[in-house]
Amino acid sequence: MCFLGVLKQKNMMHQRMRNNAKTLSRELNWLKSVLKLRYKISIESQRPNQDIYEILPPDISQDNSVYAQCIRHFAMSSDERLVLILSLCPHIRPEILDLFFTKNKSYERIYTQFGGLVGKRHSGFLPTGETAAFIIAGNNVAKRIEVLELFRPSHYFSKLGILKLDLQKGQYREPVLSNPLEISEEYLMRLTSGQPYKPDFSTTFPAKLLSTRLDWADLVLDPHVLAEVSEITAWLEHEDKIMNDWGLKKLLKRGYRALFYGPPGTGKTLTACLLGKSMGLDVYRVDLSQVVSKYIGETEKNMANIFDQAENKNWILFFDEADALFGKRTNASDSKDRHANQEVAYLLQRVEDYSGVIILATNLKANMDIAFTRRFQSMIYFPTPNYEQRLRLWRNSFEGLQLEDDVDFHQLANDHKIAGGSIINILRYCSLSALSRGQDKIAMEDIEEGLRKELRKEGKTL
Ligand SMILES: Nc1ncnc2c1ncn2[C@@H]1O[C@H](COP(=O)(O)OP(=O)(O)OP(=O)(O)O)[C@@H](O)[C@H]1O
Ligand SMILES: [Mg+2]
Repeated sequence: MCFLGVLKQKNMMHQRMRNNAKTLSRELNWLKSVLKLRYKISIESQRPNQDIYEILPPDISQDNSVYAQCIRHFAMSSDERLVLILSLCPHIRPEILDLFFTKNKSYERIYTQFGGLVGKRHSGFLPTGETAAFIIAGNNVAKRIEVLELFRPSHYFSKLGILKLDLQKGQYREPVLSNPLEISEEYLMRLTSGQPYKPDFSTTFPAKLLSTRLDWADLVLDPHVLAEVSEITAWLEHEDKIMNDWGLKKLLKRGYRALFYGPPGTGKTLTACLLGKSMGLDVYRVDLSQVVSKYIGETEKNMANIFDQAENKNWILFFDEADALFGKRTNASDSKDRHANQEVAYLLQRVEDYSGVIILATNLKANMDIAFTRRFQSMIYFPTPNYEQRLRLWRNSFEGLQLEDDVDFHQLANDHKIAGGSIINILRYCSLSALSRGQDKIAMEDIEEGLRKELRKEGKTL
């Protein structure tokens, strides 16, 4: 992108942020007024001639900020809006909640009705479900029961990963509303900055956003392999029509599951990236070989986290080294095996129910569980490229570089049955080797040196 383009994008980002901040300020002022009134009614036992519902939430019908769009999208009720802004309050205007530090003089402690927690570093008040119930319901028992509904797993707050009460394991006997009210990282980011959220690898999110600077034109594949890949694009383009207009959703499963298999470096990951890039979808790569080793309980939760987040965003999920997990299930001989099998079964179910595109990649198709491979819409083999393809790969990869006259791509393509990934590795070696000779031009001997290294890596010799 050119300099002006970057500047324009930055300006737009700032504009979005400013718009969002205005909406947030109005929403916070509303919360503050409601809070004061609730305090008067329920703590000071005053009888003001107004109920909290008479303080109307800000009118967002003409507001284009991300926050306002979110409220409209979910057609949020006043109660839901109060809970949402309360969950954001410690992050943007924590002092609004200082009112809750008021002590109950009779008992010399803060009012039980306020709920709330004090953080380890944050010195302000952290709201719990109880705080939300106090603001919305006061002492009204029927209304408090309604508030509980907002925190049920079936409510969209929890189902779509917007906010939840963070239930502590082993504390189930404590009232549900005593748990902290937590907005998800995703919605915190989206609703404060006004920017879409793109999570990246962490221990609780074992997936990485993939991207590529290459385009379809750079992908060198057999036409019949490309034709199979284009079936996935076709599904993405026509899914809505097929399922809804043609009414096939009664018969067909949602989503699309593809297996890419073949030797290393043949373009499986690149193809997944290009699919996302051309369709404007984010591709997240889950490296199962890293996940599986510590795959007891906790990781199951993390995988569920990926699927839950992916579900509403239309991400393409790309599972690399899929055989590590989707490989043949073992005959459960001990409880550890049984546990592993259970987790595989769980994952199979999630893969099958996913409404977007899932691509699994492996070098070892033979290791894949039959029960699993049955569920793929396509299984695409990525072969080692043939002579013509290798020639194109050599030429494309070295395009724009200065070459000595002795560099002969025909000979290289003819003599070595290697894949695109190896050619890219050789490109790196031989650029460095030319530079270390003090040359800007690459010679055949640099390439051959690179080839030797690459082949040695694969356990072969030149
Ligand atoms: N068919 C191809 N067309 C164009 N470039 C390719 C092709 N195959 C590989 N490459 C180049 O090699 C790089 C590595 O390929 P990629 O990561 O897609 O291989 P892979 O099949 O996923 O390998 P692995 O099985 O080891 O994960 C690509 O980023 C690209 O630069
Ligand atoms: Mg790969």
